[in-house]
Amino acid sequence: MSDETLSVVGVAKIYGGDGLSVPAVREATFACRSGTVTAIMGPSGSGKTTILSILGLLLKPTSGRVVLMGKDVTSLDERELPPLRRASIGFIFQSFNLFSSLTVLENVLVALQLQKVAKANAMGLAEAALTRVDLVKRANFYPRDLSGGEKQRVSIARAIASDAPIILADEPTANLDSKTGLKIIDLLYNLAEERRKTVVVVSHDLRLKEHVNRVLWMEDGVIHED
Ligand SMILES: Nc1ncnc2c1ncn2[C@@H]1O[C@H](COP(=O)(O)OP(=O)(O)O)[C@@H](O)[C@H]1O
Ligand SMILES: [Mg+2]
Repeated sequence: MSDETLSVVGVAKIYGGDGLSVPAVREATFACRSGTVTAIMGPSGSGKTTILSILGLLLKPTSGRVVLMGKDVTSLDERELPPLRRASIGFIFQSFNLFSSLTVLENVLVALQLQKVAKANAMGLAEAALTRVDLVKRANFYPRDLSGGEKQRVSIARAIASDAPIILADEPTANLDSKTGLKIIDLLYNLAEERRKTVVVVSHDLRLKEHVNRVLWMEDGVIHED
């Protein structure tokens, strides 16, 4: 199979109705490849979260097509999408989105449970993911006792635990100091390289650009290559 795991073809998104329309993405066409980190960079309001939500099958484009693993998934419905999303995509967010009443290990286990991974396999997968992000020694800590960088590593462990081939990250470094943020990007880069993940990071943080394979620039909904 081609290493183009996720692509958009002529995708546009216009928010609105009632005479009010906001064009958030205009005619975007690009492909993301396994083994690489693609960064989509641009200022706040340029449409980054919108295009990432379309790539993550969380939001339908107004026009254009989304192709996942060679299959056109644009017109799949609300019954077909969630299982496909669970099997294929791990999400990472700016605000970590951890459950505060669960330990690090439990946060990863609950994600696997939501992904319908068999209980017998879940513990091994969770431990492997925590090993990958170097957090085994924090497995029984609660999120409140972790640094920002550690919290983001938990959310990476959660995103990779079930071995989904695609990782989508929305401003993953925005709540971190710059050194910690770059460590997170380097971790994602290593995952792409070593585990052949397809990683897409959206960010307004220009320092990231030396730490990824490819940069797409976004401005007023228009995406263009360097
Ligand atoms: N649900 C929505 N309804 C209407 N407009 C929206 C909605 N979400 C985002 N927008 C608008 O679309 C544009 C792009 O937003 P967004 O994708 O969040 O940009 P970014 O992530 O780069 O900050 C902005 O003008 C924003 O106000
Ligand atoms: Mg955003």
